[in-house]
Amino acid sequence: MTRSVKKRLGLMLCLIVMVFTVSGCGHKGRSNNDTIKIGVCVYDQYDTFLTQLINSFDAEVENDVLVEYVYASQNQSTQNDQVQSMIEKGVDVLCVNLVDRTAPTTIIDLARKNDVPIIFFNRELVEEDLMQWSKLYYVGADAYESGTLQGEIAAKECKKNMDKIDANGDGVIQYVVLEGEAGHQDSIVRTEYSVNTMIEKGVSVEKVGYAIANWNRSQAQTKMAQLIEKNGNEIELVLANNDDMALGAVDAYGAAGYPAERRPAIFGIDGTDIGLNAVADGTILGTVYNDKEGQAKAMYGIAVALAKGESVDGFGLTDGKYIRLPYTIVDSSNVDEFLK
Ligand code: BGC
Repeated sequence: MTRSVKKRLGLMLCLIVMVFTVSGCGHKGRSNNDTIKIGVCVYDQYDTFLTQLINSFDAEVENDVLVEYVYASQNQSTQNDQVQSMIEKGVDVLCVNLVDRTAPTTIIDLARKNDVPIIFFNRELVEEDLMQWSKLYYVGADAYESGTLQGEIAAKECKKNMDKIDANGDGVIQYVVLEGEAGHQDSIVRTEYSVNTMIEKGVSVEKVGYAIANWNRSQAQTKMAQLIEKNGNEIELVLANNDDMALGAVDAYGAAGYPAERRPAIFGIDGTDIGLNAVADGTILGTVYNDKEGQAKAMYGIAVALAKGESVDGFGLTDGKYIRLPYTIVDSSNVDEFLK
């Protein structure tokens, strides 16, 4: 083989490797020796809030950082395999949104064995698990705060418009709850704290039903349709653990032919684009902003620092481990500030 043929073959091989690395694996950015590699593992690809959180994360990514995103279709053993393969590919740091927040041990063991730090996010593992190794962190928000703020906003609306919301005029608000996944920290805590806050604020309430709709709009529509069928006009207020399920409730009332003035007061949590628009047009009365931009920024900053072997002290981690971004109430009075 002549020298020039060898050179051309070498160049071709180099190009093939580059194409595989940059586009074939869904990586973002360029690959060279200084490149930081971050692996991001998400529990499901069809979750509205997480899609927006990941978009915010992606917007942070700089040129010398390569990020690979994988989605586990709600299967923990798929996610374990994805983590293993990311580690084999040589990621410097992992961001993991667990499928089952009670089963992180396989992932933690893999990461520790290979000295790859992990930032868990959104689906909070128990403290004992986070303490299993020094290079484990959590970025999210305080579930108690979201429930409390949803209760505050619902209580405020009830006091302001009791005549309208208390449709049967009995002085008691008949309500239903649409819950997220069973076992998720946000479902359990939001459900309890929103109702308790309404009661603390002096609203008399009566629970007429609840349904688990797994954060999902169409499941919420189906479950809400069943609740309407069973309770008819009795339902005066709907507390949904997230905006997608609040909108599922709106869909159910639409499909059942209820005009806007005969629907209950509906409240969500998240402030996703679609949730904010629903507050702006009055379809739902309020939501609680779950600061995905702040969470994405914190995750990205910590990930890069860890990948470079730098200290994360400057990020204000609680107990050296946790970042929890604050929630904010959103209603018709301030929704414009949140809409881009
Ligand atoms: C969000 C939900 C989302 C869930 C996924 C919650 O914090 O409010 O919208 O589906 O996280 O884990």
